[in-house]
Amino acid sequence: MKLFKSISLTALAVLVGSQLSFGQNNAGPAALEGAPASVFPALPYAYDALEPHIDARTMEIHYDRHHRAYYTNFIAAVKGTPLEGKTMTEIFASMSKHPDAVRNNGGGYYNHLFFWKVMGKNSSVMSPELSGAITKTFGSFDKFKEVFNNAAKTRFGSGWAWLYVTSDKTLAVGSTPNQDNPLMDLSPVKGTPVLALDVWEHAYYLKYQNKRADYVEAFWNVINWDEVNRRYKEAVK
Ligand SMILES: [Fe+2]
Repeated sequence: MKLFKSISLTALAVLVGSQLSFGQNNAGPAALEGAPASVFPALPYAYDALEPHIDARTMEIHYDRHHRAYYTNFIAAVKGTPLEGKTMTEIFASMSKHPDAVRNNGGGYYNHLFFWKVMGKNSSVMSPELSGAITKTFGSFDKFKEVFNNAAKTRFGSGWAWLYVTSDKTLAVGSTPNQDNPLMDLSPVKGTPVLALDVWEHAYYLKYQNKRADYVEAFWNVINWDEVNRRYKEAVK
């Protein structure tokens, strides 16, 4: 029994260690914007890490069913086509030329990976650079929050709210339908994303039901500003 306990604890430590190292490994944009992963990427934290704001059951279904399905279907959609081996950025930049299966599943694969990374259970704060840019563009943090929340709340049906950097290196807020994102050539909201919020019902319905506004408000408690700061810095280089 003692031996079993010891082995179990060792296995647990290895598992926790690998989760931690994944979560702490703040890989550069290439990890996300590069070629699709050869295996479905791990969630960078435990299902219950964002409780009580995002519940464990929602995280489990969202990651292990919805996100996994987008990944699997995307890999199947590009397999054997000229898109196989291309980076996500390249595929998005020419999205208007590709079938809906690539658009919907490629967007779903990337957007969720992005979303997991810009959330976390930590006490990170906004960098002075990002904070300054937000004040410059929106007038204040509170005004920015209002504009972002409004984009999230008013997206009809399913989609995403984004904070992104435009081609002239300024910040903007917008929303996209379905699994579109600002990297896609066909998106009217175009730029380099730095923050994203999934407003599909599958992201919140179990806990919040029809109260999307409550979910949107709760999101502000789980933002990983370290990742958002890093993305902003990369985007304005
Ligand atoms: Fe989602």
